Amino acid sequence: MQKIIVTGGTGYIGSHVVVDLITKGYQPIIIDNLSNSERSVLEGIKKITDKDVEFADIDLCDREATLSFFEQHRDSIGVIHFAALKSVGESVEKPLKYYRNNLDSLINILQGMESYNIPNLIFSSSCTVYGEPDALPVTELSAIKPATSPYGHTKQMGEEIIMNFLKSNSNVKAISLRYFNPIGAHDSAYIGELPTGVPSNLMPYITQTAIGKRECLSVFGDDYKTHDGTALRDYIHVCDLADAHTMALEKIIGDSNSKNYDTYNLGVGTGYSVLDVIKSFERSTDQKLNYKIAPRRAGDVSAIYADNTKATKEL
Ligand code: NAD
Ligand code: WQD
Repeated sequence: MQKIIVTGGTGYIGSHVVVDLITKGYQPIIIDNLSNSERSVLEGIKKITDKDVEFADIDLCDREATLSFFEQHRDSIGVIHFAALKSVGESVEKPLKYYRNNLDSLINILQGMESYNIPNLIFSSSCTVYGEPDALPVTELSAIKPATSPYGHTKQMGEEIIMNFLKSNSNVKAISLRYFNPIGAHDSAYIGELPTGVPSNLMPYITQTAIGKRECLSVFGDDYKTHDGTALRDYIHVCDLADAHTMALEKIIGDSNSKNYDTYNLGVGTGYSVLDVIKSFERSTDQKLNYKIAPRRAGDVSAIYADNTKATKEL
């Protein structure tokens, strides 16, 4: 069975990818410091797959511990790198925390791949690399605009660090997957989106308001130039996103003609407004959601959605 190192594998997207990999016959090995996830996620994965996944509680910024982990798993065929801090607002308040965590960890991982000849990397990038786009939908060739947050900047820098690393490591291939807005959970509900603390993303805020854990959802801005004034995003189901990771991995492992570096947008290609999402949630659950219109949130773009032609064709 082919071994894949999954960093951040107890997190929201990582856990769904671990399930997908197991289902498709791979052996994922998780490395995560549980800074934004819980060990109980491993039980959820076991309930779904009937498999115990090997797990290492390691901070990827700890160079020695990370390299020793890579040495132990040098027979892995690739790394899927999810581990990162991802709160846009917090990154503005604590930029060094984000640069340190997201870049030190990436550098240690690349060092591990170089030292122990692990040849394939899938990197979690983000639509945030496009900033406020000039035209919609965005393609992989759309301009990379100045980042609107230190978090976004770590993703832009991450992609550049990987490209430079590949120039001196011609045996390694990498793909950066630029996610739009992942939402939802595995059908079983044994795993899902379980942020620690107050959620900053729309969907967990909606569900926590629906169950009464939060009093009221604030809709950030109703004066954007969109059909109902609220901001447009491209919401992609997390299981579709997970599936795309395994496909990307298979592309670089199985296709000897594939480029040594590539980028793919992962979105559904349609923009939905915040009010569209709320109304859809109300329709599906037959429950009214308590929400109010609030001022725009700093740093938000008005609209972004993907042109997903490249991923659809090539993955
Ligand atoms: P998440 O917080 O649920 O998962 C990330 C995991 O990484 C957590 O389990 C956390 O404990 C771990 N981690 C963080 N720093 C670490 C470190 N130094 N050492 C070891 N483990 C560490 O986040 P997610 O939503 O699953 O996001 C996964 C990846 O996708 C991230 O890189 C994120 O930036 C990117 N991304 C997420 C979204 C989104 O909306 N969820 C969108 C675009 C890109
Ligand atoms: C979606 C929409 C909010 C919460 C972020 C990152 C991006 C990427 C995905 C990682 C926006 C509105 C939200 C709330 C609201 N992550 N909203 N009330 O901001 O599109 O993207 O996550 O790379 O980089 O910026 O996602 O879920 O926070 O917001 O009205 O309580 O919902 O203003 O229009 P966002 P989100």
